[in-house]
Amino acid sequence: MAVPANDAAPAAVDATGRPPAHVAIIMDGNGRWAQRRKLPRIRGHREGAERLREIVEECARFGIKFLTVFAFSTENWKRSTEEVNGLMTLFRLYARSEADALVSNGARFRFIGDLAELDTSLVNQILELEKRTKGGNRLELTVAVNYGARRELARAARMVAERVAAGELQPSEIDEETLNSHLYTSRLPDPDLIIRTSGEHRLSNFMLWQSAYSEFEFVDDLWPEFTTEKFRAVLARYGHRNRRFGAAGG
Ligand code: FPP
Repeated sequence: MAVPANDAAPAAVDATGRPPAHVAIIMDGNGRWAQRRKLPRIRGHREGAERLREIVEECARFGIKFLTVFAFSTENWKRSTEEVNGLMTLFRLYARSEADALVSNGARFRFIGDLAELDTSLVNQILELEKRTKGGNRLELTVAVNYGARRELARAARMVAERVAAGELQPSEIDEETLNSHLYTSRLPDPDLIIRTSGEHRLSNFMLWQSAYSEFEFVDDLWPEFTTEKFRAVLARYGHRNRRFGAAGG
């Protein structure tokens, strides 16, 4: 469904009066949601895909410019073949079924992660969706698949080392920006707010570099239970945070 601009006034602002520019979400708890209902785990992931669709629309409504979600980690290959295949199928279906909705919501889709280990048909769907949504300038939806922050950092270090070896860069010139510009997320601002559902209090190899000054919200709801009302409540709490970025408190 296309969301009209400003159909709800942004209730969630930070101390400087702005909504968070970048919200990142660790969508955890799909498996438990399904198991509690004696359903196959993939049913939880499918339900999770519905919540993602709603949260994307809510971000567009609130004027949040960047939404990044963790959909599959470099460690998730350890799950059963059935679950991994089910998730890959779900990603393919999502890439196909969401294209029109993303375009009509002015959303641009981007992928981050290691494409090399993904099935060619999924890679093609991802590239196709990136192409189709290229014109979206209201919200950038970044989906992390086969993503791991340590792998991302090792890759960036390797790329910087290659530039040094090629004589393009002096070791003394390497600074934070050099490394940042070689991350998958180089075009994104750091996340203002990172939300993790399901009651777990950890980052699990997600955006380790980018989260240096992020605000965190850990909520007990499992991801399929994370409704737009709950999201609004999280945004409202964020609005009361005092972000200092290392400066002295007032
Ligand atoms: C973590 O819950 C969730 C995942 C590994 C998959 C996330 C995928 C979705 C929300 C599907 C929708 C995404 C797209 C891009 C279509 P878990 O399975 O680890 O839950 P558990 O901790 O209860 O087992």
